[in-house]
Formats: sequence, C-alpha cells, structure tokens
Amino acid sequence: MGTIDYKTHEHDVLVIGAGGAGLRAAIEASSGDVSVGVVCKSLLGKAHTVMAEGGVAAAMGNVDDRDNWRVHFADTMRGGQYLNNWRMAQVHAQQAPDRVRELEAWGALFDRTKDGKIIQRNFGGHKYPRLAHVGDRTGLEMIRTLQDHGIHRGIDFYMEYTVVTLLKDGDRIAGAFGYDRERGRFHVWKAKSVILATGGIGRAFKITSNSWEYTGDGHALAYKTGAALKDMEFVQFHPTGMVWPPSVRGILVTEGVRGEGGVLRNSEGKRFMFDDIPDLYKNQTATDPEEGWRYVTGDKDANRPPELLTRDHVARCIVREIREGRGSPHGGVYLDIAWIKEKMPKAEAHIKKKLPSMYHQFKELAGVDITKEAMEVGPTTHYVMGGVDVDGNTQMSAVPGLFACGEVAAGLHGANRLGGNSLSDLLVFGKLAGEHASQWAKSHSAPTVDESQIGDAHAAALAPLDANSGENPYDIQHDLQEMMQDRAGIVRNEDDLASALDGLAKLRTRAGNAVAHGHREFNPGWHTALDLDNLLVVAEAVARSAIDRRESRGAHFREDYEGKRDDHASHNTTVSQSADGSMTLERRAIAPMPEELSAIIEEMG
Ligand code: FUM
Repeated sequence: MGTIDYKTHEHDVLVIGAGGAGLRAAIEASSGDVSVGVVCKSLLGKAHTVMAEGGVAAAMGNVDDRDNWRVHFADTMRGGQYLNNWRMAQVHAQQAPDRVRELEAWGALFDRTKDGKIIQRNFGGHKYPRLAHVGDRTGLEMIRTLQDHGIHRGIDFYMEYTVVTLLKDGDRIAGAFGYDRERGRFHVWKAKSVILATGGIGRAFKITSNSWEYTGDGHALAYKTGAALKDMEFVQFHPTGMVWPPSVRGILVTEGVRGEGGVLRNSEGKRFMFDDIPDLYKNQTATDPEEGWRYVTGDKDANRPPELLTRDHVARCIVREIREGRGSPHGGVYLDIAWIKEKMPKAEAHIKKKLPSMYHQFKELAGVDITKEAMEVGPTTHYVMGGVDVDGNTQMSAVPGLFACGEVAAGLHGANRLGGNSLSDLLVFGKLAGEHASQWAKSHSAPTVDESQIGDAHAAALAPLDANSGENPYDIQHDLQEMMQDRAGIVRNEDDLASALDGLAKLRTRAGNAVAHGHREFNPGWHTALDLDNLLVVAEAVARSAIDRRESRGAHFREDYEGKRDDHASHNTTVSQSADGSMTLERRAIAPMPEELSAIIEEMG
C-alpha cells in the first residue's frame, strides 16, 4: 500500500450532521469545555429539520391549560402503539417545554396568543393544541436560531464533507474517515466521542419529502461499526405530499394545513376520513363536521376532526380512496383549506398568515391558489421511526463513545411518530447527547487509530473510481428506490417483502460493480456510488424487519395481517451485523413500564 494522502483533525467530540439534532448536540457539547467539530454533508442550515413545518410539540398549555407532560407522554405512547422506549417518551414530554423556552431565549420567533404567549396549534394524535409554531416555517426558524447560537461557540464546522467510515480503537469509537465533496480530498477526524445526527433514510424510496442528503448514512455507519438498528420496519409516510406536477412530487404539505381546519375529500367530494375511526381514538374524534370545526376554532368540549388522526391512519385512508378509484386526476386526494371562507371572516388573510410557505409553494410550483382551490396531495416518505439503538438516558449506542440523536436514533416514537414530536425530539435528545458525549470525552483518554483502518477505508472509497468499467450508480439507486416504494411501502405483504429482499441481494451485486467516471473533484457520480452501500444497508434493515413483524401496527401495515395486532408478543426488532457481514435479526422484549407511567396511560384512557 502506498502513502495515503489525508488531512487529520482532532476533536474531543465529533458531531456528524448539522440539522437541528446535530446543532443542538454541538451547542451542548461545546458548553462542556471540550473541543467540538461538526461535519455536514451539505451547507450548514440545509437540513430536513426545515421540513417539520407546522410546529414543535411541547406541553406548555398556552392554548389549553389542561395540557401537561403526562398527557403528552400518553399521546406519544399511544401514537407509537406502545413500542416506544417509555423512558425516552417520559424525558421528552417533561423536557420539551423548557427546550422551547430556551430556544425563544436564544432568539427564536413564534406566533403569539392575544395575551402574548407562544401560540400552539392542533396536530394529529395530540389531545390538545400543542405545537408551538411560526406560521409554517417552524423548522426553518429553529435551524436559524441554533445556527446563530452555535456559530459563536468556537465549534469547527466542516461543510460539504461526507463521512464514509467510522474508526475504532479496539471496541471504542476513535473518529471518522471521509472526504470533502468539492475536491474529493480525504480527511481523518480523531475524536473521543462521536455523535451521529445524520437524519433519515427517505432517499431509499422513490417518493419522499427528503432531499438528496438522506441516504441513511448515520444508520449504516453505526450498523457497520457494531451498533444495532431498532424498529426499522417503521417508516413514516406523511399523508400529504404534493403529487403534481411530477417534478415536485413528494414535497411536503404541512399537517398544519389540517391543524388550521383543512379537510380531505375524495373525487366525489366526500370527507372520507369520517368512514374509519380507529377504536383507540373513538372517544376523541368528531363524528360530524360541525363538531370538528368547533374544535379547530378552540371549543374545548368538542372532539378533533378525523383529519387529525395519526399519520399512519390518515395515509392508509388516502391510499384506500386512490386504490378504490376515488382519487384526484393525478393520483392523490383533495386537501381543502379554502372552504374555511364559509365559516371565517378574513379567511384568506388567515391562510396567508398561518400557511405562508404552502401558499407560495402551491402558487409557484403548481399554479394553485390555496385560498381559492383545493390542493392535490398524497403520501410521501417522510421519516423513519427506526434507528440506532441507544440508551434512553444517555443516547449512547452499544459502541462505547458512539452516540446518536434525532431521527437517526430509535426509541422515542415506537411504531409511529406524532407530528411535531421530531422537533422536540431533536432539542431534548440533542442536548442530552451533547452533554453525555462531552462527559464521556472528558473522562477518557485520546484513542489511537491504526493506519490499516484508514487504508481500508481509503481503498473502499476509491473503488468506484478505480473500476475501468461497470454500471452507472444512478441506475442502481433508481431501481432500489422504485423497488422499495413498490414492495416495502405503505401497504406490505409477505410476498412483496420477500421479493424485495431478493431484489436487494441483486442490487448489492450490481453496486459492487458500480463505476464512477472522471476524477475526485466535483464528481456527484462518485458520491452516489459511495452512498449506495448505505442505502442498501437501510433498505435491507427495513425489509428484513418488516417481513419478520407479522402484524399491523402503527406505520407498518401488512395486508396479510390486516387488523391483527399481537399485544401479547410486543417486541422491538433489532438488526445487527454478524461476523460474516450478514444481517442478523433479533426480537427484543420491551422492558415493563414503571407503575407511575402505566398509571398515567391508564388514567388518560
Ligand atoms: O407536517 C409537518 O409540518 C411536519 C411536521 C413533522 O414531521 O413533525
């Protein structure tokens, strides 16, 4: 092996990913008197966090004083169909209000109630109005605030760098190896602790709200380093993405539209969500439109409209309408907020104020004025509940010194995430990960990295460029996305999942022959070839976990087990890498909940 040309950086704590979770973790770690580096694949501030548009969930009780952490805890557990890590659900519900107030103190703007408090809106599965928001740009405002706050803290940012391998010293984490996306030069970051905050896996599917960065990098890095991935069968298909024109298919249409009174209709003009109200929510869901509207306008005795049922359920009802021939012309259904003009003076101004991005998005991209016409919408892959299996108190994985927070970590959301719980998740657990990673760094000596690991990582990274001939990586990526959408999407069954696993094995062989033409500088074909391995790991984790879960629960719907939920065998699914490189699956029983927490669930009905 010749000399390898790379640049070395040293930090106590290395954060990989600079969305909300990564930034919040870096801010916290940097307050622990340790040196912090943040590596991000894209430009700082360009993160999927901005796609959580409608608000951050925190039981502040500003709009309905019956709300408190106990109700939020119970809602989160019910939404996750009790597969959640209950400790994380408890910590999250308890700490979210403080994290929002802290963000406000750092300069975040929120819409206000008449008496000047942070206003909160309705969202699916939340019993009371709970989402603190600024119009429909909440994630963007959070990122702006965290960036402004973080940038002054002496953190080193490495923008447009991709990490391809984590490095170890024996069992413990020792840093990362990667390259800068512009010039293709190699870098080694030595670190005592590493925090993964890389977000999701949306790009493993064809229709997604996720942008190009979300190829499951953190999931795959952790898996290949010895951590387990948990609950990967649970992929969230947000009910409302744009469906037309084709170039914008999948872009998110915030749940805030429904929170402000938007209703779903089929091609016959019918509000089909009234047709199927799950038992779990029967006592909280309106059975007539008047009552639902009263709820939206703040009548505390009224029940929520059925459009605000949980995302998994709403997405499935939309799919049913489309499959049964009652869809819109471009394969969606109608989402109508314009109708509130019948009920509300100044409705047009209200829509533009509360949903400014949606107004512009539809006007500019689809030529639709949402104050006058209905939108066409359909499900889009938005979020993965599954991720790195972490300790609920510290966010550390099974690999000593390797932490994960935000979407890349599993636990909080169980089988389905409630809208707005992602923003509070990343604030609460970003902070905890930062705190514990800096403590870990302070109590451990610097690791050593042997050159052979770097040599192996370097050779693997160059393989697609070194190949003289082979397949175009974009074709492989395209086929993987199509296949996952068709065979491991919203509606699943044994045969499709088995054929997805077969297909993935073939795609893995093809990926081994991917070729990137040209050289290392400005070469997106090379980057895509390197992303393929991560996509294949997460796609296999989804398919393998989904075939093993023989029930329908939350976001995992098996048409061959329709209506079947096995409450006597509740378990989390984990996958990890065996010594021979294959993926091993394990069912793990869920630890019993302490009495005080089950009492809360019981009390909330
Ligand atoms: O619909 C939305 O605004 C998305 C929010 C979320 O995913 O939490």
